[in-house]
Amino acid sequence: MKLVFAWLVGFALCFQAGTLAIDFYYLTIQWPKSFCNSKAHISCTSVPNHFTIHGLWQEMNNGAPVPPPPVKQPFDNVQVKSDPALYQTMQQIWPGLTITMPNEIFWKHEWDQHGAFTSFTQHDYFKTTVDRANDLGVLKLIHQAGINIGQQYTVKDFKSAIQAAVGLKLGRPLEMHITCNLDLISSTRQKMVAQIHEIRFCTDNTGLQFINCTSKSSIWPCDKTKTYALPLP
Ligand SMILES: *[C@@H]1O[C@H](CO)[C@@H](O)[C@H](O)[C@H]1NC(C)=O
Repeated sequence: MKLVFAWLVGFALCFQAGTLAIDFYYLTIQWPKSFCNSKAHISCTSVPNHFTIHGLWQEMNNGAPVPPPPVKQPFDNVQVKSDPALYQTMQQIWPGLTITMPNEIFWKHEWDQHGAFTSFTQHDYFKTTVDRANDLGVLKLIHQAGINIGQQYTVKDFKSAIQAAVGLKLGRPLEMHITCNLDLISSTRQKMVAQIHEIRFCTDNTGLQFINCTSKSSIWPCDKTKTYALPLP
């Protein structure tokens, strides 16, 4: 009994200490083709025809960086591999996409840049991220939103379609951010092709509950007056 109590107090303190510094998380999902064509030097090994996870990122409401932990836990792939269901799902929903960043190098990168700043164990960081992505139905999102790959949409129409699909899954409306980037492979100087790149959803500082994204995302904004597509893989 005493032990359980000590464990609970320890857990609560540790959990609080780790989450106090974080206001919310971005759960960012990416359209693989938009990532793959955005840099001349990257070479993608596979280009899935569905959104995949980019990461779960620690954020402050005022945009300040979250302070790094005193000791960063090094990435340990055993933590995901010892959960075969999680490992299998991560391979499908969180692939590394490029030759230089195969799955485990990508997961290590996300852990080093983001997970290590949180109070999550490595297993729970990856599991929580995958669980939230599954809550949204990420693999079938495009299909359920009725979005046609390659078709041009205003960001407002694209977002409404995604919001309707996600709203059905979660049972309530959810505000999110859409980001755009440039296709540098097929763009020419005369014609730069902008495209929809990522969707950022927000969760509270436990990573367990979705919340409406409030702070403005200033990175790679899309132009409200233009239309964009998800490029064909
Ligand atoms: C987001 O905001 C809308 C409109 O104010 C509200 O109806 C909805 O419940 C909010 N969603 C969440 C997840 O809090």
